[in-house]
Amino acid sequence: MNMDVLVSLSKRRGFVFQSSEIYGGTGSCWDYGPLGVELKNNIKRVWWRDFVQTRADMVGIDASILMHPTVWKASGHLDHFTDPMVDCRECKHRFRADHVDALPWVHYCPATKGNKFTIPAGEPCGHCGQRRTLCPNCGKGDLTAPRQFNLMFKTFMGPVEEDAAVTYLRPETAQAMFVNFDNVLQSMRLKLPFGIAQAGRSFRNEITPGNFIFRTREFEQMEIEYFVNPNDRVDGRPADEYWHDRWIEDCMAWFRRYGLSPDNLRLREHERDELAHYAKRTVDIEYKFPIGWSELMGIANRTDFDLKQHSKWSGKSLTYFDDERKEHVVPFVVEPAAGVDRALLAFMADAYREEEVRGEKRVVLKFHPELAPIKIAVLPLLKKRDDIVRTAHTIRAELARHWRVVYDDTAAIGRLYRRQDEVGTPYCVTVDVQTVGDSERGETGDFRVTIRDRDSMEQARVPIAELGAVFRELLEGAAWSQVSARYPAPPVKASGP
Ligand code: GAP
Repeated sequence: MNMDVLVSLSKRRGFVFQSSEIYGGTGSCWDYGPLGVELKNNIKRVWWRDFVQTRADMVGIDASILMHPTVWKASGHLDHFTDPMVDCRECKHRFRADHVDALPWVHYCPATKGNKFTIPAGEPCGHCGQRRTLCPNCGKGDLTAPRQFNLMFKTFMGPVEEDAAVTYLRPETAQAMFVNFDNVLQSMRLKLPFGIAQAGRSFRNEITPGNFIFRTREFEQMEIEYFVNPNDRVDGRPADEYWHDRWIEDCMAWFRRYGLSPDNLRLREHERDELAHYAKRTVDIEYKFPIGWSELMGIANRTDFDLKQHSKWSGKSLTYFDDERKEHVVPFVVEPAAGVDRALLAFMADAYREEEVRGEKRVVLKFHPELAPIKIAVLPLLKKRDDIVRTAHTIRAELARHWRVVYDDTAAIGRLYRRQDEVGTPYCVTVDVQTVGDSERGETGDFRVTIRDRDSMEQARVPIAELGAVFRELLEGAAWSQVSARYPAPPVKASGP
């Protein structure tokens, strides 16, 4: 599937817009629209619930984005958080040196009187056999030698722009968990192993951002620092190694649980020479994005590097007293670090389907119900009938006490269903003449509505009074077939599938 399809759907249906679009856009910044913000909040909410709220060994924090500048000296970001960059001397385009060979390149071929070709990444020209040496963007300029470029955004704290006031927008949420280690330990009286979680914004002045929301300069992370006693053993293995594997399994299972296909997920072990300066071992969970296999999240064993560094630079002890062994230890830490925006992109890509229904194309986002931005759409079959419209509004208001529910009467019912399919709404409710009756003909209503399942497009006729209970069951994971079996199908389908 093509990334452009997702970009276009995102804009058309209010998931993601380009930032400051009316001014021509801001490089690599994106705004989440009305449906995007719901989807993003749902991802963060289920992550927080599954990894923090429901676990006795986890707590959360919400730290400030601006931290003491020494944090970044201690963490190594000031010295090591760099990417090598090269510039084109002609068109001034800037590239990450390690990404240049992965780009298609422009070539003016001497064997064809200088004709211009765009050649796939890594391949030689089919006419003259030359390989790329010049700028891949303009095909004319030499590239400069690589220079290291620090990815942190610099700013000034307070009214005076001087060196002493320099601070940075955090490039990861992780450091706040290390500098608050002792505050959390003392205030919550925790015993190892335990973890501290945080979800929030991070900023990186990426040299080559792109691929929609995959790599941006402002993004959100969901990170956990899981502290373990390095002297403990679990199942005969060092505790840090045991917990590293446990977190890899748990994170994989989490992405599968919310709908990512196992075929689109894989693990990638970091080679020795690519390990970050703090890591003993790192494993990435990769997803088969529309741009190919790429990192969705990383799970690193950061050892005791960070606590020791912050202890050294702050002069404060950051240890844990091991009651059994009567000794102070510096815990090791396992770090599952996920990107919210990347997770959202993966969930959208995996949910996207184009199906043929009765000779027509149906676009559907098969989101897990917990992630779907809208859970239920309430639709009146006839918008000219006041009693139908009123009943639909009443049902919407009642259901909206529990879930995100919308009302829509701006098209014919078949079209309304398609619109909800395209944004991944798992269920629709249709109010029709049978629901409310026809007083002019002396017919009373049956006070039942048609509910429709997004994935099977099947319908069932459910009493209005039971809607709350039925949707609670369905949205908490019950199968449609199991719930709908208790109710009759509508005598005549309200509307096509
Ligand atoms: N604390 C460790 C850390 O930050 P990372 O691998 O640099 O590790 C973790 O980042 C996750 O954050 C990545 O796997 C990715 O999902 C997300 N991420 C990192 N840089 C990003 C960017 N520029 N745009 C979007 N997401 C990003």
